Amino acid sequence: MNIVVAESAGFCFGVKRAVSMVEEQIELHPDKKIYTYGPIIHNENVVEHFRQQGVEVMEEDSDPASYEKGIVILRSHGVSKKVQESIMAAGHTVVDATCPFVKKIHNLAKDASEKGDYIIIIGDRSHPEIQGICGWIEGRDFTCIETEEEAENFSLDDSTRKITVLSQTTFNHKKFHDLVEILGKKGYDIYALNTICNATEERQDEAARIAGEVDVCLVIGGRNSSNTRKLYDICRQKCPETYFLETADDLNREVLCSARSVGITAGASTPAKIIQEVISKCQK
Ligand code: F3S
Repeated sequence: MNIVVAESAGFCFGVKRAVSMVEEQIELHPDKKIYTYGPIIHNENVVEHFRQQGVEVMEEDSDPASYEKGIVILRSHGVSKKVQESIMAAGHTVVDATCPFVKKIHNLAKDASEKGDYIIIIGDRSHPEIQGICGWIEGRDFTCIETEEEAENFSLDDSTRKITVLSQTTFNHKKFHDLVEILGKKGYDIYALNTICNATEERQDEAARIAGEVDVCLVIGGRNSSNTRKLYDICRQKCPETYFLETADDLNREVLCSARSVGITAGASTPAKIIQEVISKCQK
């Protein structure tokens, strides 16, 4: 049986980096209290694994001063300036695991707003990444736009003011261009920067390609991980024999009996260890 594993399966660069920064802090500071600001990734196995090594989750809406002083690791999708400062003001040491692609957006938002630009962020305003980005805008002179209707309804009193447009890293490319086009037609002085990260799209494209070439497709990830569910739907369209697994225990060997080829992919918060266990079970 031929097993094809997607190269993009599992953690993206930013998540991998954040997880290894937690491991590094555990090793460097065995005597210190270590926290992650919110769960480091949306995978209970990983959070529990770190918890057993003494890493505590600092609740996002809690007061950092109510925790014993220690090291606080910021997650890959970043936090606002205010949150970062409140953690430092409480006497903790901040270790910034914000993905460099997200940090770049923080810096662009900060610099453009300091120069006096109005900022438009294209993305989901309820997502922590967007809330973090908005928190780096000086003067808080900004708006978030997610739909065509919101773009149509946008207006700025001072029509000569320059507008910098930025996007959420996981936003859809086509939708971003459509929204920028609507804004552009309004005659404002717009400077749009596509700050979308390709990791999600690459993973989905690769999953679709592999699913179209195999007899059975296995998608590994948490049941409540929306990006894994999306991967499952994409694969299912190309390969009717697609199965969703949380761990290797969910793999029913019978589904592999008549398969000559199996494709394997995994969501962004699936650890490499779980992917490897599924591969080993298929090989057996
Ligand atoms: Fe991952 Fe960073 Fe992109 S966290 S999805 S590599 S922006």
